[in-house]
Amino acid sequence: MDIHVNLNGVAERIAADPAQRLSSALRAHGLTGLKEGCLEGECGACSVLLDGEPVCSCLMLAAQAEGRRIETVEGLARGSGPSDLQRAFVEEGAVQCGYCTPGMIVAAEGLLRRNPAPTEAEVRRAIAGNICRCTGYASIIRAIARTASERGAGETS
Ligand code: FES
Ligand code: FES
Repeated sequence: MDIHVNLNGVAERIAADPAQRLSSALRAHGLTGLKEGCLEGECGACSVLLDGEPVCSCLMLAAQAEGRRIETVEGLARGSGPSDLQRAFVEEGAVQCGYCTPGMIVAAEGLLRRNPAPTEAEVRRAIAGNICRCTGYASIIRAIARTASERGAGETS
């Protein structure tokens, strides 16, 4: 079967088996930024934005995404370069093995869109469903806070 979605801003048809997870269908479609880790909704590595909200794509059937808007980490890049948030992750040292990074960036982008000036507690809550085994989280929180601050400065200048 095919499902029809708006994928990173483009109308797309994605092939999927009826029982296939959305994470698996997206990866088979070439969007391998998102990872399949636990496949139980625990690690967040498979996070995508579904109609603007971060979700674990491993917990959904691909068919449940019919007609919806999906954004993956690939779609958050600006043109051929990284987004401000992606760059902040690199510059703040928030990327080590990188396995959690796409899901973490998706969760952070979802937060910053609905709450452009989050407190540290709000940042921690937003990424609570995304597990990182490498960084200790401090650099990730710095990268998100820095992006919020830079976006805020951009709006007021
Ligand atoms: S693979 Fe989806 S939450 Fe871990
Ligand atoms: S950078 Fe390795 S799991 Fe987060």
